[in-house]
Order: sequence, then C-alpha cells, then structure tokens
Amino acid sequence: MEGRVVVSGAKNAALPALTAALLTEERVVLHNIPRVRDISTMRSLLEDLGVDSSVTHEAHGNRIEIEARQLLNPVAPYELVKQMRASVLVLGPLVARFGQARVSLPGGCAIGVRPVNLHLKGLEKLGASISFDHGYVDARANGLRGTKFYFDTISVTGTENLMMAATLADGVTVLENAAREPEVQDLAHLLTKMGAEIEGAGTPEVRIRGVSRLHGAEHSIIPDRIEAGTFLVAAAITGGDLVVERCNPEHLTAVLAKLEEVGVQVVRDGANASNPARTLNVKAGRNLRAHDVTTLEYPGFPTDMQAQYMTLMTQAEGSSVITETIFENRFMHALELVRMGADITVNGRRAVVRGATGLSGAKIQASDLRASASLVLAGLAAEGQTLIDRVYHIDRGYERIEEKLTQVGAKIIRISESD
Ligand code: EPZ
Repeated sequence: MEGRVVVSGAKNAALPALTAALLTEERVVLHNIPRVRDISTMRSLLEDLGVDSSVTHEAHGNRIEIEARQLLNPVAPYELVKQMRASVLVLGPLVARFGQARVSLPGGCAIGVRPVNLHLKGLEKLGASISFDHGYVDARANGLRGTKFYFDTISVTGTENLMMAATLADGVTVLENAAREPEVQDLAHLLTKMGAEIEGAGTPEVRIRGVSRLHGAEHSIIPDRIEAGTFLVAAAITGGDLVVERCNPEHLTAVLAKLEEVGVQVVRDGANASNPARTLNVKAGRNLRAHDVTTLEYPGFPTDMQAQYMTLMTQAEGSSVITETIFENRFMHALELVRMGADITVNGRRAVVRGATGLSGAKIQASDLRASASLVLAGLAAEGQTLIDRVYHIDRGYERIEEKLTQVGAKIIRISESD
C-alpha cells in the first residue's frame, strides 16, 4: 500500500459533541464530523427528541448545525438505543437542562456486558432520582447539585455524561478516576466554548463549576485516532509506505511506540504547536517482530486497536500475548482469523498469536466495528480473495473505508448481499 490517506473526524468525539448541544437552546455548529452511520443514528435520536439539525458537506467531513430550542419528548427509544449504545449520552444533558429523561437501557453487546451503572450512580450523586421500568431508565431532577464522584471503573462515556450534566448543576462537581481520552478532552473543549467552567479534562480529576445556562458555539472535532491507527496497521501488514494525513500523533503515542517496537518506521511530519492537523509517514519492511500488548485506558494501548494489532501479529515473527483488560469478550475476530490460517489460542482475556503464518482468503463474518476492521486488514495480507459478511458493522465507524484503501493500492470492493 502506498500513497496518502486522509483521516476523518473522530466518531467517539462527534457523538458526545452532538448530545452536548442539548445543554443550550442556542445553535451549536460542529465541523469535521465523519460521514458514518452512528452519526446518522444520533441525529435521528436528537430529532426524535425535538431538536432541529442540518448537515452540510465540507472539504473535510460534514458540518452539523444543531438547535435544541425545545424538547418534544425526553425519550431515547429502544429502537435507536439498540443500534447504538452511545445513545445513553443524551441522559446527562436531558436531566441537567430539562429535569427529566427516559432512556432505553442498552442491552449487552458483542464485546461485553457493558453496564451503565456508573452513569446512573453518578447522576444519583448529582441529585437525580433514578427508576427503572419496562427496560427503560427514568431519571428526574429538580435541578442538579454539585458533588464528588469516584468512578470504580474508568468509563469514557460515563465521564462524558456526568461532565455534561455537571455543567448546569448548582455548585462544584469533582469527577475522580475519570477517563482521560482525547475524546473526553475534546468534549470539555466544546463545553468550555459554550460557557462551561471545567478544569482538569485529560487528567484523572475533572472539576466542573456549574453555571446557570450555556450558549451556542462553533467547534471542529478532533481527528479519529483509531481510524488513523487502522491505516498505520494497513501499511505495516502490507509492507507499505503510507502518509496518513489530518491525524494527531500525540493521540497515538502508545500505538506508535508499539508499531516501532514491532519494526515499523514512523516519521512524524509537520508537528508544531500552532498546526494541529498533522501527518504521519509509516514505512514497513517485511520483517515484523512479535511483541506482547495489554490494552489499557488512555494513554495506554487502546482496546479499539486490539483487533487490528492481533491481525498484524499473525504476520510477525515469534509469539505475542495480547491481554484485553477493558472488555470481557473482545476476541471474536480471533476465530475468523484462525479460519484464514492464523495460529491463535484464546484463553479468557488473553490470546497467544504465533507467527508469521500465511493467511488465505476465505468467507468470514464481522461481529463488531473493530473486529470488522481487523478482518479487512487480514484480507489485505491474505493470499487470494476474502469475503467479509456483515460489513454494516464497519460503516458505523469508518467513512468509505474501501474507497480510502483503494486510493493507496488496496484491491477492495463492496458487494451487496444480492451480488
Ligand atoms: C467508549 O465506550 C467507546 N465508545 C468505545 O469505542 C471504547 O471501546 C471504550 O470507550 C473504551 O475505550 C464511545 O466513545 C462511543 P467504557 P464506553 O464505559 O464509554 C465498564 C468503538 O469501537 N463500565 O469506558 O461504553 C465497561 O463494561 C467503541 O468505537 C461499567 O462497568 O466504554 C467496560 O468494561 C467500542 N459500568 C469498562 O467499564 C459503567 O457504567 C470501560 O467501558 C460504564 C462502564
């Protein structure tokens, strides 16, 4: 694979940014929004709630304008929540601004049980009353009050939900053991532009001083570090020379360090304080070396890159142990890789990959978003043709992946079920 590929805006930053618009009646304008299915699902949910929104194509991604002047009904229905767990991010803003929210409880998902108990516990600490009926959570509050909340487990959307709720609470809220992901920091950046008072985003302790109201703002979403990481692995697994544009290398430190260990050459281009859109050039030989990895919360190695890394390790010399500490069931892709000829054994949250083994094209199926990306990468490295079923998973979080990869030399086409 050779050439230049452009990274889209981050899905996991765009989703909370869209729900943050619920916190004000004024217009919020967001740029660099990726054209992926989860964004359309979130827009449908917001429109269901009574929010006006419009989309405009821009050179990079979409521009979305949102105005939550009024609320028709504070309900996030099962039909939408089951498509996308991140729908739970409307809970905090709705309770904070409108004093009520009824949200379908997200069920389990392919990668784990994924409860939202910490979101609810935190809202209760902020003064909301929480009740459950018919698969829905009902949250009500007559104004939220600042509090101190410790996350037993670090949660990205949990931190985002409570941070948004606390912006309109009476007094100061301190979130401890909070998530430090760049997407959390980007949300805090947007909320601050809307008039919120937030300190410490990106550190384990976030302090929010509540204000009486928030106003409109304009904001450009950060680049998608997981999409960028996926392209870096695509170059590494094909022995390519790729320039990955409009990414932020600082958000990829753990991934870049691991790729360099494995034997990939990484050059950081155009990095300076004033220019956030930067470029990475990766060059990979054929002698990849196996290295263990353990997924961790940011700034550790991201769980959303684990599947892609596993595929890479099937092409590296030696054995590697992959330990998944965030989700209890995130090795579904391993079985499909074994069907392609990989040598992988899974034992609970640990997988051992022995390489390098030749992969041969096969009919395989994706189980979730990142697993589908790892199978596309396997197809690029395999001999012969690979047919991936259920690629709708990939469209949830990757913008036109087959077009972007074709531009840099991949032989990949989308065929519909009927073909
Ligand atoms: C976010 O999910 C991302 N999604 C996920 O990306 C990502 O894998 C995950 O963070 C971890 O980095 C979005 O931002 C929309 P968590 P989130 O709450 O917030 C447990 C992708 O591929 N937990 O940080 O749902 C939970 O079960 C997706 O783009 C509780 O126990 O993840 C998990 O084991 C997949 N109770 C751990 O914490 C709670 O109330 C971390 O989950 C909340 C979480």
